[in-house]
Amino acid sequence: TDPALIRNFCIIAHIDHGKSTLADRMLQITGVVDDRSMRAQYLDRMDIERERGITIKSQAVRLPWDGHVLNMIDTPGHVDFTYEVSRSLQACEGAILLVDAAQGIEAQTLANLYLAMNADLHIIPVLNKIDLPAAQPEKFAEELAGLIGCDPSDVLKVSGKTGVGVRELLDHVVQTVPPPVGVADAAARALIFDSVYDTYRGVVTYVRVFDGHLGKRERILMMSTNATHETLEIGVISPEPKVADQGLGVGEVGYLITGVKDVRQSRVGDTVTSAAKSATDMLAGYEHPKPMVFSGLYPIDGDEYPELREALDKLQLNDAALVYEPETSAALGFGFRVGFLGLLHMEIVRERLEREFGLSLISTAPNVVYRVVMEDGKELTVTNPSEFPTGGKIAQVFEPVTKSTILAPSEFIGAIMEICQGRRGQLLGMDYLSEDRVEIRYTLPLGEIIFDFFDQLKSRTRGYASLDYEPAGEQEAELVKVDILLQGEAVDAFSAIVHKDKAYGYGVDMAKKLRELIPRQQFEVPIQAAIGARVIARENIRAIRKDVLAKCYGGDISRKRKLLEKQKEGKKRMKMVGRVEVPQEAFVAALSTD
Ligand code: GTP
Repeated sequence: TDPALIRNFCIIAHIDHGKSTLADRMLQITGVVDDRSMRAQYLDRMDIERERGITIKSQAVRLPWDGHVLNMIDTPGHVDFTYEVSRSLQACEGAILLVDAAQGIEAQTLANLYLAMNADLHIIPVLNKIDLPAAQPEKFAEELAGLIGCDPSDVLKVSGKTGVGVRELLDHVVQTVPPPVGVADAAARALIFDSVYDTYRGVVTYVRVFDGHLGKRERILMMSTNATHETLEIGVISPEPKVADQGLGVGEVGYLITGVKDVRQSRVGDTVTSAAKSATDMLAGYEHPKPMVFSGLYPIDGDEYPELREALDKLQLNDAALVYEPETSAALGFGFRVGFLGLLHMEIVRERLEREFGLSLISTAPNVVYRVVMEDGKELTVTNPSEFPTGGKIAQVFEPVTKSTILAPSEFIGAIMEICQGRRGQLLGMDYLSEDRVEIRYTLPLGEIIFDFFDQLKSRTRGYASLDYEPAGEQEAELVKVDILLQGEAVDAFSAIVHKDKAYGYGVDMAKKLRELIPRQQFEVPIQAAIGARVIARENIRAIRKDVLAKCYGGDISRKRKLLEKQKEGKKRMKMVGRVEVPQEAFVAALSTD
């Protein structure tokens, strides 16, 4: 295709502002999907995505419109996937900034807009859901115009649901988004903006060609790793894969299949070039995915350990950001320490393990990555509280921090500041988007955000606040490890790294919780919370004296046997911590945050 006729664009929006619905309408209006085979959220193929209503994996669809080729590149909307969003944006020249006409601008609207502006994209402001009775198109058109510096009358108004305004929007994309520019006879350079594992075909890599040409049966080179592969198939998605025997030229967007079996061999952000005639410079911006949040994952039934390993191996084929290594816990047995991009990523992985692989899992409380500098100058990277050095030789501890943006109606400013202050936040600034909506920016430790911050924010603002955060380096903090001891023995699964001001609260809560959860034993069981050798909280589980068999009056022998058997069965699901029997449920309950 002549690059002058190509328009590459994406839709950026806050979650639930209607991106998928609008994309569906575009598929229908351009005739790419006929009305009969249309189903809701056509592009979100994974079941789990459809159920949760979130788009995790971006896709690219080619839409013919008015003699032009529009490539619509779907971007994930959630903060955990910022890097993937930025790569998808890099593949475009324009972005539709979609805002719910009943909600207005939200935190992810802003975060995504800033990313799009950084990528130098032409921005098309659009209000969606104008069919809603609660829509306030005039008010929010003004808000949106104020944000990007255009006239309120330049804001398009559409309904992805009814289709109103969608044709005009497509026309507008053709008229205003610049066509791609590249050098046709240069060495090929294509950006990988997504890569998806498919059971039947291996990895499907989505690319945008910047310079040159990629063809079928060509040896290609991945520039970040220097690995070469052969393109077995090359094509476009419209909306099903269609082979393009002529290959992909400047400005084109499509997919390639090389037979690799693992997305880590075809990484998002990498540059593909031709092995025979290689480009010298990679396209800018490649980054290795970096896990930010870690948690231990253990099978509830220890026999399922091999299945858990297999399931993680399989998930990793499809998820270049997932990392894990085996770990052993005295309390929980054999499991894995797993690294995630963020909380949502963690939830998704857990859910997939449980749902797609039928596993029942216990996960330990999530923690971030700490850098510990010892007095002798040695440095440790701690991804697990049990690796946190004890004793007095620590010189400094560094924790990751974020730049967080919260958007909310201005009546909630007080509540939001209180939550952020309580979590060691530092106010960076505050701006009014309109007279009753405010943007508040904080530096917040990531470790404070991953611990039910979002839930608290939602409940204190009746669901009106939205949050977005991005990594912003590290800071020194006074962090300590709190251990929980049963009868003097530390239970590794309950250890946590917390700020020293919160250590006492954590210790007391955990000790209380466990007193409720652990059944009485034949002997007294002290529960202690300690920092090193210093005990900071203590509870007691009193001993049971009565012999359980005494109840049977020594008479009925079959009843006695039944009772003994029942006890034995109960024991199977018990874990021994020293002499103390702890039911599996106690671990599950104590480790769940809600
Ligand atoms: P994420 O993939 O989570 O980012 O969501 P999304 O932005 O793709 O939103 P989605 O298209 O799933 O729409 C969210 C909700 O809004 C759904 O319940 C849609 O039915 C509804 N919705 C989307 N567009 C419109 C619209 O134009 N009018 C009305 N009334 N409802 C809409």
